[in-house]
Amino acid sequence: MFARRIVVVGTGYVGLTTGACLASLGHRVLCSDVDTTKVAALARGDVHILEDGLHDLVQEGIAAGRLGFTGDSADAVADADVVFLCVPTPMGSGGAADLAAVESVTREVRDRLPHGCVLVTKSTVPVGTAARVAGLVRRPDVAIVSNPEFLREGSAVHDFLNPDRIVVGSDSQNAAERVAALYSRLGAPTILTDAASAEMVKYAANCFLATKLSYVNAIAELCERLGADITDVTEGMGYDRRIGQSFLQPGPGWGGSCLPKDTHALMQVAEAVAFDFPLLGATISSNTRQRERMVVKVADACGRNGSLAGVRLGVLGLAFKAGTDDLRDSPALAVTRMLAERGAELTAYDPGLRGDEPGLADVVTVVDDPYQAAKGAAGLVLLTEWPEFRTLDWAAMASTMNGPVVVDTRNHLDPDALRRVGVSWHGVGRTP
Ligand code: UGA
Repeated sequence: MFARRIVVVGTGYVGLTTGACLASLGHRVLCSDVDTTKVAALARGDVHILEDGLHDLVQEGIAAGRLGFTGDSADAVADADVVFLCVPTPMGSGGAADLAAVESVTREVRDRLPHGCVLVTKSTVPVGTAARVAGLVRRPDVAIVSNPEFLREGSAVHDFLNPDRIVVGSDSQNAAERVAALYSRLGAPTILTDAASAEMVKYAANCFLATKLSYVNAIAELCERLGADITDVTEGMGYDRRIGQSFLQPGPGWGGSCLPKDTHALMQVAEAVAFDFPLLGATISSNTRQRERMVVKVADACGRNGSLAGVRLGVLGLAFKAGTDDLRDSPALAVTRMLAERGAELTAYDPGLRGDEPGLADVVTVVDDPYQAAKGAAGLVLLTEWPEFRTLDWAAMASTMNGPVVVDTRNHLDPDALRRVGVSWHGVGRTP
């Protein structure tokens, strides 16, 4: 079953991780992308994405002769057993997923797919997309399969190689089994189902995770009002095996390229079938409110009578989460932008960013050293949970600040350690 000829179309973090990991499992993989500059760099082993372990896997795959790159998708698929579509499905008009890339690649490759080939959608796509792709391909000798990914950005390689489950959906049992067999070495529970159910698993999972976080953030706010401590509360909740300890960390709201897009897309899908989904609507609106609440928290802690006009603030972290350089729908960036709109003068540090990312300079001055962000600041706002923020020399940070106050929107720092060096700490869901 090994050494299958696999083509992965799209070399974003999902496509490239899928390609490199399948190669590491012993398959022969060709990754294609329209961006020929990217393809040329990847062929040399230069990985453009900050993703733990990916660089090494790509280099190993190339060296072993199992991983290659091309700019010509139609040509690449011509002798493939399995073709994975890993192209972006961004939020389109009205919140629905934009399937333009999926459709255009399908059109591009459909006549070149060999007899008996399996075409797999891996991008997160609305329920019914596999059927739509089948309608575009219109070839009874090519099976369509939905095989959603559950990769977290930043730990995509780990998640791929240690999956909680593999989900494969198709009308063709044989095609589904062939795709499932590609992962057999991983020994994960495998759910074989129809395509619509496989597509639904992905949305249902991501929207559940978003709902879990909105709920935790609401409980954190309630803790503040009632004098309870969210850290102890979530620990107490998490020991219940039905709840689990993970995904219970309050923060400035959830973001990134997946949860916001998928929650909006499922709202659209529900609306299209006249299903009223107030629970998911509240998940989304609470998240917007959570970002705004962080701004009020900063204004209360660092402002002059609640005003941030002309107040100098340092920002720690802009990426949507630690371990990535991704600013897409980043709550950290959204909060920073709102602070700027309120007149704060902002200097930010993020270990994953260079500072020349598009749109950043209009909002904030990015520096390459956290101590510089602290210098002269009336307060520091921690927005992304980079581990290195914990080990900063906080006494040195405090000594350069103009009134040491830290608003820790991730409850990431040790409040007692900060207090000992004279820093006043404000967290989320915990009384200072
Ligand atoms: C998410 C899902 O976790 C993956 O399973 C899924 O495959 C992926 O989307 C996708 O659809 O492709 P990702 O967006 O990379 O992965 O990031 P997460 O680690 O899930 O974090 C999402 C957001 O929730 C971030 O803003 C993060 O800071 C926030 N978060 C996460 C919290 O605020 N608290 C937590 O306890 C966990």
